[in-house]
Amino acid sequence: MPKTSETVLTDVTPTTAIAVRNVRKTFLLRHTHSLKESFVAKVRGKTIASTFDALKGVDFTVEAGESVALLGFNGSGKSTLLKLVSGVLRPDGGAIRTRGRIAGLIEVGAGFHPDLSGRENIYLNAAILGMTKEEIDARFDDIVTFSEIEKFIDTEVKHYSSGMFLRLAFSVAIHTEVDILLIDEILSVGDEPFQKKCLARIRELHEAGRTLVVVSHDLDMVAQLCDRGILLRGGEVLYDGPATEAVVQMRALYDVPNEHPYRREMTWMALKGITRGSGHGRFEPEAPVLREQMAAFLHRLAGEPRVADLPASSPFVDVLTEHVFYPAIVWLQRQGIVGEEHTFEPSKPLTREQMAVFLARYAEADLSDELGGDPFSDVPADHPAARAIAWVAEKDLTWTYEDEDGSRRFAPDEPVLREQVAVFLHRYAHRDTRA
Ligand SMILES: Nc1ncnc2c1ncn2[C@@H]1O[C@H](COP(=O)(O)OP(=O)(O)O)[C@@H](O)[C@H]1O
Ligand SMILES: [Mg+2]
Repeated sequence: MPKTSETVLTDVTPTTAIAVRNVRKTFLLRHTHSLKESFVAKVRGKTIASTFDALKGVDFTVEAGESVALLGFNGSGKSTLLKLVSGVLRPDGGAIRTRGRIAGLIEVGAGFHPDLSGRENIYLNAAILGMTKEEIDARFDDIVTFSEIEKFIDTEVKHYSSGMFLRLAFSVAIHTEVDILLIDEILSVGDEPFQKKCLARIRELHEAGRTLVVVSHDLDMVAQLCDRGILLRGGEVLYDGPATEAVVQMRALYDVPNEHPYRREMTWMALKGITRGSGHGRFEPEAPVLREQMAAFLHRLAGEPRVADLPASSPFVDVLTEHVFYPAIVWLQRQGIVGEEHTFEPSKPLTREQMAVFLARYAEADLSDELGGDPFSDVPADHPAARAIAWVAEKDLTWTYEDEDGSRRFAPDEPVLREQVAVFLHRYAHRDTRA
């Protein structure tokens, strides 16, 4: 077990605002399984949950008055780290110390009580941040004016839009006597004039000596606002230094470097229009591919056939008809690439076994044949995807992992990364012309 804070945190000085020492956070991932599957797993002594290390030993110290940009791709652990610093989550290892009052603008709507009005929530929130009734009375009008939601101040906040939540939460946070302000992406929820106003206020707070930790996709903005940047990647600190340099490092990560072993495949995917980038005009090779994205990739690989008679109500309870990839997902279902389940789990990462199944069905591969080749040590013959996995291996679409004892592993449960999907699809598309 990680040892307690006191011994670890001897290096904290009186001017330290945030001390993070060897902090780890592991999430338990519960896989959705039927009752029968759960039962079978239990009988066989298998676990049906796995864990994910979101933070793998993070260390840094923020002195009072510093402004720090927290940078990194989606999934790198930024929000988790802010939640740990704000105390919303507890670390599984290591220690965190903070000095002074903290306001965290981390999740839109967090800290608000849905059944209370905006007015009541202002009192509730400000009290949580340590203000007395008199102090709140004195600032109440300023808070409401800044938020620009006077008209709705006596409406229950459950009727608020996310933009209205942001306005109220932000306004409370900046009108209270906080020492440390943590801001996660949420600024992007507001409209532009409000964002500008917030930013001006954040600058003032910084000039007045408050400590800031800011997460934003707007790299130019954070480079300007912050003195220091901490770049996270896969739950680890990759860089900690001047904000401008951290942004340079972040941008370097974005681009696929020349020497990347799968550069050709990723370029092919982009040129073919199979991917349109990550939304920031980049490829993000190490991001996992979500199931909804895979639907779009396969649909585009097939030449984006028009999907006639799009059903007015979605065949999947978790896919809205407004979903940008709704046609692709319906197409996938009609092709028999996904089964008749009620859910599609669009925002779940695609696993390697699912990749194998999707590709085999896309290719209309005949999986009834006897399968040759060496089996994988981690794919038992009765694995539901065993035949599809054998097929991708036979077609040489995949690569395998080798254990120290020489046994071959397929790692069926691992997520497929964007760089890997590029390889799978490229090899599939070129399988006849490859030597
Ligand atoms: N409550 C949770 N349960 C399981 N996994 C989680 C949970 N919260 C975050 N994660 C995972 O931890 C990783 C880091 O997430 P997060 O801190 O939100 O990253 P970021 O804010 O940098 O995009 C992601 O892979 C995410 O899926
Ligand atoms: Mg986040």
